[in-house]
Amino acid sequence: MKNLPLLFCGIFFALAFSFVGLVLTSHIQLGSLTRTTETLVPSDDDPSIMVVSEGDPLYPPKSVGLAQQGKQEYISLGCMYCHSQQIRRADFGADIDRGWGPRQTVARDYIMQDRVLLGTMRTGPDLAHLGGRYAGDAGRDWNHLHLYNPQIVSKGSTMPPFAFLYETRKIDREVSTDALVFPPESRYGPEEGYEIIPTRRAVALVEYLLSLKINYSLPEAIIPE
Ligand code: HEC
Repeated sequence: MKNLPLLFCGIFFALAFSFVGLVLTSHIQLGSLTRTTETLVPSDDDPSIMVVSEGDPLYPPKSVGLAQQGKQEYISLGCMYCHSQQIRRADFGADIDRGWGPRQTVARDYIMQDRVLLGTMRTGPDLAHLGGRYAGDAGRDWNHLHLYNPQIVSKGSTMPPFAFLYETRKIDREVSTDALVFPPESRYGPEEGYEIIPTRRAVALVEYLLSLKINYSLPEAIIPE
């Protein structure tokens, strides 16, 4: 080994080069992003500087409570291997034409997330704006049926069923209020006298899905009229 110093120099430069390229430049470009309001206003002191207008809600919102627990389920169940959470620009693919979201996602959309689940593959649709596409009680019911068995609402789907997140129970006098309501004559419904109840994991997961929304403008990514 007569070229040991050269070898170390080589290793040092390879590491330093990738550190600068991957960590430092991204940090310089994106590290200072903060939450903002939908519209910026000129500052009182210096009108050439745009600042956050007081009192407006800050975006991106922070996900809390049940939705935050649901995110852990989303991670542990591996939903990310088939679903992305990033909407591409209108001139860069058909995401917006498909109705996956009203605008492209930008780096700032992710700054409040402890783990960013951009995804790597799109076996299924993008979910970045799922909560905007399936809203309210109807959206909740649809998602529970779909998770229990995608075939119920999406015939021919290749998504696996997650029926283990649901409990089959004998009906005790009356059907429970949170029991899944199957479409009439669905062959996936429970036997006579039984009902399907979401477990806490399923409830949290669906709340997380419904909380995924890109329904606000950012100064660098405005929802077109
Ligand atoms: C093997 C790949 C695969 C995995 C794993 C998977 N999905 Fe899917 N998913 C799909 C496919 C394909 C579709 C489109 C067909 C359909 O609607 O079922 C889909 C559709 C969806 C939809 C409806 C989207 C829409 O725009 O209508 C939701 C919501 C969803 N998946 C959530 C999940 C969640 C939550 C998990 C994890 C528990 C998961 N998926 C895991 C493949 C997958």
